[in-house]
This record gives sequence, C-alpha cells and structure tokens, in this order.
Amino acid sequence: MRLKTTLLKEPKHILFMVSCVGWTTADELYSCSEDHQILKWNLLTSETSLVVKLQEDIYPIDLHWFPKTVSGKKQTQAEIFVLTSTDGKFHLASKIGRIEKSVEAHKGAVLAGRWNYDGTALITAGEDGQIKIWSKSGMLRSTLASQGSPVYSVAWGPDSDRILYTSGRQLIIKPLQPSAKVIQWKAHDGVVLKVDWNSVHDLILSGGEDCKYKVWDSFGRLLHSSSSHDYPITSLSWAPDGEVFAVGSFNTLRLCDKTGWSYALEKPNTGSVFSLAWSADGTQLAGACGNGHVIFAHVVEQHWEWKNFVITLTKRRTMQVRNVLNDAVDVLEFRDRVIKASLAYGHLVVATSLQCYVYKNWNTPLIFDLKEGTVSLILQAEKHFLLVDGAGLYIFSYEGRLISSPKFPGMRADILNAQCVSLSNDTIAIRDKSDEKVILLFDALTGKALGDGKPLTHKLEVVEIALDQCGPSTERKIALIDKNRDLYLTSVRHLGREPKICKIGSMVHSMAWNDAANILCGIQDNQFTVWYYPSVVFTDKELLPKTLYIKDGSEFSRAPHILNYVGTKVTLRQGDGSLVYSSVLPYPALLHEYSTSARWEDALRLCRFAKDQSLWACLAGMAMANRELTTAEMAYAAIGELPRVQYINFIKEQPSKESSLAHMLMFSGQVQEAEATLLQAALIYQAIQINIDLFNWERALELAVKHKTHVDTVLAYREKFLQKFGRKETNKRFLQYSEGVEVDWEKIQAKIEMELSKEREKAASLSVRSSVTSRR
Ligand SMILES: *[C@@H]1O[C@H](CO)[C@@H](O)[C@H](O)[C@H]1NC(C)=O
Repeated sequence: MRLKTTLLKEPKHILFMVSCVGWTTADELYSCSEDHQILKWNLLTSETSLVVKLQEDIYPIDLHWFPKTVSGKKQTQAEIFVLTSTDGKFHLASKIGRIEKSVEAHKGAVLAGRWNYDGTALITAGEDGQIKIWSKSGMLRSTLASQGSPVYSVAWGPDSDRILYTSGRQLIIKPLQPSAKVIQWKAHDGVVLKVDWNSVHDLILSGGEDCKYKVWDSFGRLLHSSSSHDYPITSLSWAPDGEVFAVGSFNTLRLCDKTGWSYALEKPNTGSVFSLAWSADGTQLAGACGNGHVIFAHVVEQHWEWKNFVITLTKRRTMQVRNVLNDAVDVLEFRDRVIKASLAYGHLVVATSLQCYVYKNWNTPLIFDLKEGTVSLILQAEKHFLLVDGAGLYIFSYEGRLISSPKFPGMRADILNAQCVSLSNDTIAIRDKSDEKVILLFDALTGKALGDGKPLTHKLEVVEIALDQCGPSTERKIALIDKNRDLYLTSVRHLGREPKICKIGSMVHSMAWNDAANILCGIQDNQFTVWYYPSVVFTDKELLPKTLYIKDGSEFSRAPHILNYVGTKVTLRQGDGSLVYSSVLPYPALLHEYSTSARWEDALRLCRFAKDQSLWACLAGMAMANRELTTAEMAYAAIGELPRVQYINFIKEQPSKESSLAHMLMFSGQVQEAEATLLQAALIYQAIQINIDLFNWERALELAVKHKTHVDTVLAYREKFLQKFGRKETNKRFLQYSEGVEVDWEKIQAKIEMELSKEREKAASLSVRSSVTSRR
C-alpha cells in the first residue's frame, strides 16, 4: 500500500504558508493560507477558485467543517465551518465564504477549533493555555481547562464526552463531566504538536517536536512509537475507518497502518505539512504545506488475497487480479473511485463512491447502486455479505438483492468495525457500543433480533467477536475475547435458556474461524494456537486442552495479527507489517466433515492413520456430542481416558433410552437437563438417584418427598455417606424426615431392583411396538 501524491507545479497560495485544509465532499476541498485567501479545489474538474479574500487582519490557523451527520440525518454537503485565527477569534463561515459570526475567544492565537461528532458543541484551544466549549451558534458554555502553556491540538473522544489535548510534553484526556477522572501522561520528549483520536477503535495519535509519532490506547498506554524523524511531526490524521493514518513533517508524508508501522514514505517538495485531512470516504488525503502548496494523495496498491487470487488496487478506479496458479492477469475497471473491497468465498465485493460491484468471475460483475457513497466496512459470509455505511448496515445476497437491514436503538453505523461485527450464513452479531458487555444478535435473513430478542450479555466488556461459519444454524457459536483477553465460546441460539458461556483460552490477542470447518485459530500468549474442536467444551471440557494444536510463536515478530484462515492456510500480519503464513494440517477439517456426515468408520480410520492424540481427542468429543457411543468409547480408549470409557459402558447398559440420554447429559455436566429428561419420562427413582450420586442431598430428598417415593432410599444413602465420614446429621429436613422412617437396606435394594426392571420392561415393550409400527 502506498500514497500516490499530486502537487501542482506552482503553488496557488503564492509565497505564503497554507495553514489548514478541509473537505466538503470527497471531491471538493477548502484551503486557507496566511495570504488571507480561502481557495476551493475541485478534484473532478481540477479547477481551483477563490472563495473569498478575508480581511487583512485575519490570519487563519485551523479550519473544521460542521459534521455532515447530525442526529442521524445526513446532509449531502457540509454547509458551515469554523475558522480560527491568530487574533484570538474564531469565525463561523458559510460555504460561500461569508463570515456569519466572529467571536473573541482567547488571548493570543486560537490554535485549534473542532466540532464534536453530532455538531452540538465546538471546542477551541488557545495560545493562552485555555480550552473552551461553545454552543453551535458560538455562545460560550464553559472553560474546560486552563494551563500555563499553549494548547496546540485537541480532539474529541468517540462519544464526544471527553477531549484529548496537548500540554507541553504531556497529553491529557479530560471528560466533560466535571467529576470524572482525568488521565494525563508524558507522551513525548518534546512539545506535542498534534493529536488525533479515532472513533472506530478508540486509538490516539500524537506527534511532536521530538520528531516522533506515537499510537496510544485511550488509557494512555503506548502501542507504538516511531523512530526519530529528521524534523518535528507537524501533522497527523486518522483515516475515518481507522485502518490507516497519515503523518506529515518537513518534505515528508507517511502512510501508516493503525498499529503504527509505516506502509510508505513520500518525500514531496512541500515544506512542513501543517495540517492533514482525509475525505469522509477515506479515499483522499490533503495536506496544507508550508511552501504554499496543497498536496493531494490517495491510497493505491492495496492488496486482497484469497486462495490463489491476489488482487491489487493499481489506480483509483482499477484493480488487477492475478491468479498465482497460472499467472493469468485480469484488469477490472470501475466507473468511480474504489472505496472498499473484500475478497472471500469465491466473491469479490467492491464498493465505489456510488455503486457496488460483485464478481464471481472476472468479466461479468453484478452492479447495483448505493444510497450512500461512504461504505466503511464489508464483511462476507458464504451466502451473503454485509455493507456498513454512515446510515446503516445492510445484508445483500451475491445476486445484489437487499436481504435485511438490522436496526437497534442508539445504532451508530459509522463506528462499526470488523472486530465488533460478525456475519455468518444465518446470523449477524454486533457488540453494543453503549454497553460493551452486550452482544446483539440478529437473524441475517429477516434482520430481526434472534429468539426472544434478549441479547447476549457477558460479565466483562467484549473487545472482539467472531461467529463460526459451518454447521446448522441451530448450533451457531460465537467466540468472544473480553477485556481481560480471555476467549469464550457460546451458542447464539439458546432457546430461552441462559446460554452457557465457556472459557476456552486466555491472553488471546487475535482470532479467526476457518471458512470450511468450525476450527478456530488464535494468538494466545504469543503462541499460535488452533482449537481443532472448540465446541468440545460443551460435551467434555476436560478434553479441550487435548484438542489444541500449539505452535511456538518465536518465529513471528512482535504482536502478530491473524488476517484470515482459509482452507489450511492462516495469514498473519506481523508487528512490523510483513505477512507470514502458517499452515494447519487438513486432518481436523476432514474429521469435522466425517462427523457432520456421521461417517464414523472413516473418522476412526483417519485417526488411526494420523496417529495424533489431538485428533483422537476431537473424535471422542465429536462422537460423544453425536451420541455415537461405540466410536466415543474407542476414541477415549485411544487417549487413555479409562474412567470415560467406563462411564460410556455404564451409559450403554442403561435399561432405557431416557436413562442413557440422561447419563450422556450427566457426562457433559448438564445435571439439570439430565434430571428433567428423567422426570419427563416418569423415571422418578432414577432422577433421585443421579442426585444421590452427585451428593445433591437436598434435591434428592425434595424429589422423593414431592413424588412420595424413595424417601427411605435417600435417607439410607445419606446415612451411609455420613457414617463413612464419621459425621452426624445436622440438616433439619433430614432430621425431620428420618423420624419415623426406618432404613431397611434389603427393602430398599428390592425396591430399586423393581424400578429398574419396570424401566427395562417398559423400554422393551416400546421397542417392540415401534418395530411393529415401522414394519407396517
Ligand atoms: C452457507 O450458504 C451457502 C450458499 O447458500 C451454502 O452453500 C452453504 O452450505 C451454507 N453453509 C452453511 C454452514 O449453512
């Protein structure tokens, strides 16, 4: 990826530095300079025109257009902007350059002016060290901070409830709410000159006189520090989707990944770049240059890879598709600028500023119009894909049909990113921004909330989610990483019951599901880990550690990030930006396939052939989940789990189907379900007995009393239990019932025998009856 820059031969703001730039649309930019001129740049016609010549005493410093999206309504064009100047004023100006209002704001220059995201407040920062908040019409609301040194730069937090500003070498995050905690830290070894804060992922950029730029999280933790440049960092700016950012310095323009490493370095003849601005669709970048130039740039040479195809954005409207198997090259041309693209499941989806193109082969795309020109995210599942733009979230089929458009209260589509949205054939999951513990789940086909509409709530804030992609929708699972970096798995269709959220990993920093089997890979404590069969946690959680493949991560550089996991190939981006690939053996995927299609003989053969304990462990879990006891017994035997083998034999010997089902549930630790199964089949004694076996004495007695049977059995077992440990009865209920009940083991044994033979007889008669019906 790199920046393609354009610079006119002669600067338009002759001999004067350009101080600020701002986009009105993706093709129109305003620039202001010390020559008092405001110029308008039309990129479609390549024309530059004078908007207005300001009064001689206005030396502009900063310009910011009023946000286009205000309370959900989207205007097509920005209409007013704030302009700050050296004389301590800020000015509200219209599109035609008329100054509607000038406000005395600070002593000395007003160094920065920024609207919040919904346009309800303006913040200004001054040379006088003050930070002030103003209403939309320019009325002073409050002075938020006052310090001894100039504030060079300010930025709003994602929810417009906090601001970030510079204070010498320090950075300060101050909530608007007076009682909330202020965060302050030393950020640079020189004065900090510029900051920016991205609302999609909440990351902060800073640059300063120490000639470095840095990436921080919003707690002030350093994520990346650049090496020292030759000159101070005078400008920086996040692209709106937060995937990349630009950095400006003397004769220098850099394009960086969000993790900080640099994609590309340009050395244009610009002097210092004082301000940088991205167009709202993220395709264009403009810089205000010290030598009177305005530099334009756009991102090219972005790559997408899937299986044997590599696609490159060669120009703004052109892509090259290379099939690496035969080196065949196709060129795709678009009418408008490419804004976003995604390649997966045999389909390429490209969003331009006006249309969406869907390719299955390279010569006949399906094309449909887009309502909004600013697609910020594309996600694909095998059946359909999801587009996010400033106004909403849409599921389209690969035939271009709008399938659904889920909505929820407080939805802010502009801040959705790939970590907090996930799509499968049947489900859409969205991590709620207003309560980060909550995951909203929607049916992909209808766009309606799943099940009873109750979202999934985790005990901690969730930072990343991913839906598995295979198997029936009723078994759809979601993997989530929480704030503590613990990895959990749960089911999304839990039919009214509280879902079980099971932990399957810790210190997990990145994850991806495979596209063809429900296998998960992740970076766990710097090791590359593959969960061959994560769902095993629901059948036999002791097996989970045995089903993992762990590879030492020392071959990867710092903080690798998983981009995708397609077939047997995992693509990772390393901390330095380079791509590395890791491969996973094909056997686990094959085993999933055999299990799904109940080909147990083939599954056993595969495990014998591969001689891999982790495969046997997977097979044990898969067979058990499918109640395939013979296979499960062999697989457990192969990994030496003899108590499990015995339990399976015990299950097989159960007199009725209900009892064996109940014990299978017990095997997976689903005690309540097991009890319910028995009670439903009127197997009261059996339900009591499983509680006795688990020492759930109170429940056992409760059932016995309620059903007026086997009270003596419960008392007898309880007495035996207490005797064994040399203890006396203290439980009131047991004391109460043992009065007047005599424990006679012979009688009890006989009663139990009778219950079991009754169960056997009933099961036998049922099976005769069913074989008769099936013969008819
Ligand atoms: C997903 O949808 C595609 C296309 O309709 C289908 O071929 C595939 O089997 C589906 N996968 C699952 C897991 O339902």
